[in-house]
Amino acid sequence: MADKITIILGTSNPHKVFEMNKIAKPFDIEFIPLVNENFNPNENGKTFEENAKIKALEAAKVSNKGKYFMADDSGLCVDFLGGGPGVHSARYAETPLKRIEKLLFNLKFDSKRDARFVCALCLVDNEGNILHTEKGIVKGRIAHSIKGTNGFGYDPVFIVDGINKTMAELSEDEKNTLSHRGQALLNMIKWIKSNLN
Ligand code: IMP
Repeated sequence: MADKITIILGTSNPHKVFEMNKIAKPFDIEFIPLVNENFNPNENGKTFEENAKIKALEAAKVSNKGKYFMADDSGLCVDFLGGGPGVHSARYAETPLKRIEKLLFNLKFDSKRDARFVCALCLVDNEGNILHTEKGIVKGRIAHSIKGTNGFGYDPVFIVDGINKTMAELSEDEKNTLSHRGQALLNMIKWIKSNLN
């Protein structure tokens, strides 16, 4: 049996680590969050891909252990807001609830609520080589009010296309099967299993 592959994750978001480990466990891959006070990536990229790369390379740079490093950059893109909040999703307002309130307020008079969650993943090694990137998208629309208690972030107001439920009404497994992060990660896992040992 192949050895377990450990990957250090450049994120401070415990929800992401939890979701990713749930998906990766059956494949003998473990993600360990990077705990390092020097990890302070300058997320000034214009795209999710650029920011995922910045975070993964910063994690590799500051860590004094580990061979593989990965970062996720993700967010919500709303058509009516010209793709916003996009790469600014985490900084759209001070708290998760305030971010949702601001989003609903900004869409108050509009019926065009099409949106998508996007996730970019970047995997690098300890020498700063970019090994692989992946991207996942899930389409939906913004609800008029909060529904559901699972997940995190904008999940309670994101109604998934084809399912008349918000992301926060789905179980962990249901979300992981169809989410932007779940899709990108499964493809990343396929690549890891065939290319790393
Ligand atoms: P990041 O940590 O800089 O990538 O910021 C991601 C932000 O996008 C999060 O703080 C959430 O606000 C939002 N986001 C990303 N993925 C999800 C998700 O799966 N559900 C809900 N919100 C998400």
